[in-house]
This record gives sequence, C-alpha cells and structure tokens, in this order.
Amino acid sequence: MFDFFQDEAPWQEPLAAGAVILRRFAQYDVDALYRELIRVAEQAPFVHRVTPGGFTMSVAMTGCGAAQWVSGREGYLSQSQHVALSPLLLHFAQSAATAAGYPHFIPDSCLINRYAPDSKMTLHQDKNERSLSHPIVSVSLGLPAVFLFGGLSRSDKTAKVLLEHGDVVVWGGASRLCFHGISPLKPGIHPLTGPYRFNLTFRKAL
Ligand code: SIN
Ligand code: FE2
Repeated sequence: MFDFFQDEAPWQEPLAAGAVILRRFAQYDVDALYRELIRVAEQAPFVHRVTPGGFTMSVAMTGCGAAQWVSGREGYLSQSQHVALSPLLLHFAQSAATAAGYPHFIPDSCLINRYAPDSKMTLHQDKNERSLSHPIVSVSLGLPAVFLFGGLSRSDKTAKVLLEHGDVVVWGGASRLCFHGISPLKPGIHPLTGPYRFNLTFRKAL
C-alpha cells in the first residue's frame, strides 16, 4: 500500500554561519548514490589509511574524481588511475550545495568513508583543498552517527547532531575550517547498507 507519510519532506537546520544540515535531502537518491559508491569501490577498494603518526584509521576510505585522499592527514595526491566522478554524483552535489546557498559549487572529487561499529573520525579541519573558497558537501548513508561540529580551534565547544540516512551537511564560508568529526559508530543493521555507515564528501580539491 502506498504510504504518504513514509517519507518526510526535506527540511533545513542551520548549524553555524555558512553551515546547514539538509535533512533527508538525499532521500530519493539514496539507492542511486549507494549504487555509485559500490561501483567506485569495485574499482578502487576501500582501504584503511595509515596516518603520518603511524595510526591505522578505523574508517575505511575510497573515492573518485580528480584527487584522492592519500592519508588521514597528509592531503591529496593527484592520481592518473582514478575513478571518474560520475555526472550523477556531480549533479547531486551541485543541487545540495545550491539548496544550502552555494550555487556555484563544481566539485572535482568525492571521498567515501565507510564506518563499521566503533569506527570514528577524530576532530579535524578539511584544509587539504587547494582553495578554501568552496564548500564541503557531505552525504550520510546507512547507520546513523553523531556528527561533531565545532569552531575554528580544536578546543571550541562542539555541537552534536545525529546524522541519518539521506541527511546532507554543507559547510563553507565562515564555517569552512570548522573542526568536525564523528563519534564511534553504534552497531546496527541498516536495510540498505547492512552493518555500515557511509559518508560521501564532495569537494573542489584542485
Ligand atoms: C569527514 O569529516 O571526512 C567525514 C564526516 C562524516 O563522516 O560525516
Ligand atoms: Fe572532514
């Protein structure tokens, strides 16, 4: 039976100056985004990066587009054998950025994080992109996670918001260098992604 109340219309929650949560923005695109993610991972398998400090990250990563993450904190490396950023991903990221007030965003890269139970992302700034004048568009798929969003210094108080399947966060402008992270993932089973949470972040890296 068709259930009119199964999906909530998307809504926006301001997070900080220049940062907004687009709740459920991806709800009609989650299956397509997930298929894209699997397609990328088939060509560029998930890996657990080792940070310059020698720690193996609990989050597994892959990505597509012009630049890919090479290490937790080391930055980007241009790669010749990369998986292209598909038109579907590009258009999705542009529509989310536009909804958040960044209509001129043209990402060239998508980093994909996979969180298993207890995986976390410690507070960090996204500052490996060549120009910081473009926003970050972040899409959550699968199991929910607590997103920490702080200020410009690591010790600033963080907002803690639950990000669920289909939620999108966009931060740029005054928030572009805000510290952010993910609390350890609680175990669970999601109908689409099983025991995982996935996060796609779109960036203009080069
Ligand atoms: C990140 O900051 O790279 C990931 C954020 C997230 O997983 O939501
Ligand atoms: Fe980040």
